[in-house]
Amino acid sequence: MKQLITSLLFSSALLGVTSGQAQQVMTVDVSNPVAAIQPTMYGVFFEDINFGADGGLYAELVKNRSFEFPQPFVGWVPFGNVTMKDENPCFERNPHYVRIVNDGRRLRAGIDNEGYRGIGLKAGESYRFSAYVRTSAAKPMKLSVELVDSDGKNPLRKELEVSGSEWTKLTAVLKSPFTDAHSRLRVVLLTEGEVDMDHISLFPVNTWEQRENGLRADLVQALYDLNPGVFRFPGGCIIEGNTLATRYQWKNSVGPVENRPLNENRWNYTFTHKAFPDYFQSLGLGFFEYFQLCEDIGAEPLPVVSCGLSCQYESNEVVPLDELQPYVQDVLDLIEFANGPATSTWGKVRADMGHPEPFNLKMIGVGNEQWDKVYVERLEVFVKAIREKYPDIKIIGSSGPNADGDKFDYLWPEMKRIGVDLVDEHYYMAPEWFQKNAARYDTYDRKGPKVFAGEYAAHDYSTGKDNNWLAALSEAAFMTGLERNADVVHLATYAPLFAHVDAWQWNPDMIWFDNLRMMRTPTYYVQQLYGMNAGTDVLNLRMDGKPVAGQDSLYATAATDSRTGEVILKLVNTGSKAADVQINFQGLKKKQLAQGICIYMQSDDLKQKNTLEAENLRPQVTQVQPADGQSLRILLPARYFGVYRLPLTAKGK
Ligand code: AHR
Repeated sequence: MKQLITSLLFSSALLGVTSGQAQQVMTVDVSNPVAAIQPTMYGVFFEDINFGADGGLYAELVKNRSFEFPQPFVGWVPFGNVTMKDENPCFERNPHYVRIVNDGRRLRAGIDNEGYRGIGLKAGESYRFSAYVRTSAAKPMKLSVELVDSDGKNPLRKELEVSGSEWTKLTAVLKSPFTDAHSRLRVVLLTEGEVDMDHISLFPVNTWEQRENGLRADLVQALYDLNPGVFRFPGGCIIEGNTLATRYQWKNSVGPVENRPLNENRWNYTFTHKAFPDYFQSLGLGFFEYFQLCEDIGAEPLPVVSCGLSCQYESNEVVPLDELQPYVQDVLDLIEFANGPATSTWGKVRADMGHPEPFNLKMIGVGNEQWDKVYVERLEVFVKAIREKYPDIKIIGSSGPNADGDKFDYLWPEMKRIGVDLVDEHYYMAPEWFQKNAARYDTYDRKGPKVFAGEYAAHDYSTGKDNNWLAALSEAAFMTGLERNADVVHLATYAPLFAHVDAWQWNPDMIWFDNLRMMRTPTYYVQQLYGMNAGTDVLNLRMDGKPVAGQDSLYATAATDSRTGEVILKLVNTGSKAADVQINFQGLKKKQLAQGICIYMQSDDLKQKNTLEAENLRPQVTQVQPADGQSLRILLPARYFGVYRLPLTAKGK
């Protein structure tokens, strides 16, 4: 069982009912489910934005470990005789390395790494240092590897020896004597002579699943706790690149990590008011690590690939149709990397990385936020090639960057004509939009492609787009409409996922972190409540004969969970007054509703948010007793989101 249920305390109070309000009556027909809810329905969208990968989920603590940033000493403070070299390198695709020369004077040659806005170290935790080294000296050279705290003290100093003129890997485990979010890693050459060093790396030993080249355990735990059905990767605009040269090229992200070439991060200089010239992609968290993570957390992988267009907002470079083939081949090869036998070209790469079994990839997105004929023409080429070779793979096309408008109106009919399986919709809108659009999908064509709500978030502009309760509550309200229309909406992923508190480009985001801690926002908990309580089949829920999509600030959906035999209600009150709601269950036949639980979030303060120091808003659990086994009367508090899980039992039990 995931963390939500195990960690929450049961509130002693039952939800009370007072009289005096006009009663709202809802009916739920239990006998006749109206649509299946896809197991993939609620998922996550990952992009290396806000230092989400390097400096975030990817647990490497050293920035620019391979010295391949355009200014190769970025992230490093060299002292003494330290020079950048590339002759006879250790890694052909990452040729730079440093030569450290000690002329005999004490402490006069070495390098310091600043990490990602510091290196987060915890007292008593072990860290795996590694580097590739060689020396021209005849005798062994001594290095001191040091953990330096933010006051400049270096209580941990470990001596290591380097010998031989061939590149070899040096490793050591260092136990940190202190806790500090802004530490540094220092390497000092102690003996007279010279040493070459490359790929200088420091990872916590305690990564997720204790993997070397692993992921930050606390951040993966947060993903796991969402119970995500699908995992979109690697973006976002990152897929497209600012230019075609900097698009995400998956083949660069697999194989030995030391030889994966650096890529400029799309978010490096996108916003002039928020420039991050030290933001690059090591691709250490690449497609193998991604597929493995999906497997770990039980989510279906959903890679999105370049369609031969760089970001249409930026350089807008277009690959001519007669030069598109390598891009198409990249996609076919990616599917082979995921699913091909270990004897196939790309299946072997996967197997050599430690996963001979296929990853069982079922769907793929072509293009991110693309638009116009230039996209449609290219998409058609991809669809034809993928359908020919992999007819079972579901293909996702784009409806552009907006929730409506010219681009959207042009693209949807084109997606139908091309016959993609799903259409990716994006909406970053005000909380009011989310509240007003809970019925958005009630009228969608049931016969066309399905919907992937691939990026969405409520942006409360009045607070500088805080991750506050208003945003989360509005998303909860809107999501009742996703669930009610589960026959049309098959996937939904909030965006973006992660943000480093000291290095972010975009807000709001679902999970914030610093170098030591992590914070789940109210939005996170809304997503978790949906992800953990999706149910398997939608039930017909009506108020005055209509879906509940904002009347009197109320929103509601109902589902059954055929695996557990429960009815699951999701009720939202965005209004400022409590609502007295009577829910009558129909079609129970020989069944009745038994005592269950309600997991809820409530705050009268719409501006309330969580911080790294204080989790002010998180779900609480209480018990619920349907009075007569076939109805429920609830006083829905103002500004409230509640999930009710009620077991269906045989009458009289
Ligand atoms: O989620 C942040 C960005 O928003 C994505 O990269 C892009 O697809 C959208 O514009």
